Amino acid sequence: MDVSQQYRESWEGFWAATSDAPGEAIWDADPSLSAAPHSELLLPYADAALPVVDLGCGNGTQTRYLATRFARAIGVDLSHAAIGHARRADPEGVAEFAQLDLVDGEAVRALHERIGDTNVYMRAVIHQSEPETRPAVAAAVATLLGNRGRAFVAELTPASQDVLRQAAQGPDGPPKKLRRVFDHGLKPASATEEEVPQVLRAAGLVTLDSGDTALPQTEYLPDGTRIDLPARWFVLAAR
Ligand SMILES: C[S@@+](CC[C@H](N)C(=O)[O-])C[C@H]1O[C@@H](n2cnc3c(N)ncnc32)[C@H](O)[C@@H]1O
Repeated sequence: MDVSQQYRESWEGFWAATSDAPGEAIWDADPSLSAAPHSELLLPYADAALPVVDLGCGNGTQTRYLATRFARAIGVDLSHAAIGHARRADPEGVAEFAQLDLVDGEAVRALHERIGDTNVYMRAVIHQSEPETRPAVAAAVATLLGNRGRAFVAELTPASQDVLRQAAQGPDGPPKKLRRVFDHGLKPASATEEEVPQVLRAAGLVTLDSGDTALPQTEYLPDGTRIDLPARWFVLAAR
C-alpha cells in the first residue's frame, strides 16, 4: 500500500517550507511537555534496553529526547525534508533518522528485520492520515513491536477541531502557524473518537493503559492562552 501522491506532497511541501527554528511547526513542543511525560507512562511497561522508533518523527525534537531514555532511538518520517531537519538538529547523532512510509508494509518489515523487536513512540500521526491508510499505520506499530516491544501512541481527538475552530475565529483569522497547516492541505483531528482505538485493536494491538491528555502547541489564541489540543494516549503491546 502507499499514501496518495497528494498526501506525500502535502507533507513534503510543509516541511520544505519550514525553517530549522525550533517550534516553527505548530506541534513542535518542547519534550518536557511531551516525550518526557509520555516516557513516564511508557517505561513501566517497556524494556528500555530495546531501541525505540519514533514513527512520523518530523524534525526529531521528541526523538532526541527519547534517545536519553532508551538504548537507541530511531526517527522515521514520510518526508525527506523532515528527515533533513531532524539530522541538522542532531549534529552529534544522539538519534538516527531515516525516510520511511509507515503505510509501506514491506519497508516496515525490513526495518523490523534490521533492528529486531523495538519500542515505538507515535505522536499525532493517525489522526491526520488518509482514512484508508490508518489501518496500515496501526499495522506498522504491531510489526515493529513484535513480542517484546511496547508502544506509546498519542492521537488528537475530534474535540481538537473545536479548539482549532476557536483559534481560527480570531480577528485576524487563524494564527500564522495554524494557517500554514491548512495551506498545505493537512487535515488535523479528522479521525473519529472510536476510530483510533478500533484500528489499533484491529491491527492486533492490546491496550495496557490509556488516558486523556492534551498536546500543547507552540501557538496561542488571540487572548494569549496556549493552544492545547485534546488527545488520547495508549500504551500497547502486540497480541
Ligand atoms: C503532526 S506531525 C507530528 C510530528 C512528530 N510526531 C511530533 O509529534 O512532533 C505528523 C508527522 O507524521 C509524518 N507522517 C505522516 N504520514 C506518514 C506516513 N505514512 N509515514 C511516515 N510518516 C508520516 C509527517 O510527515 C509529519 O512529520
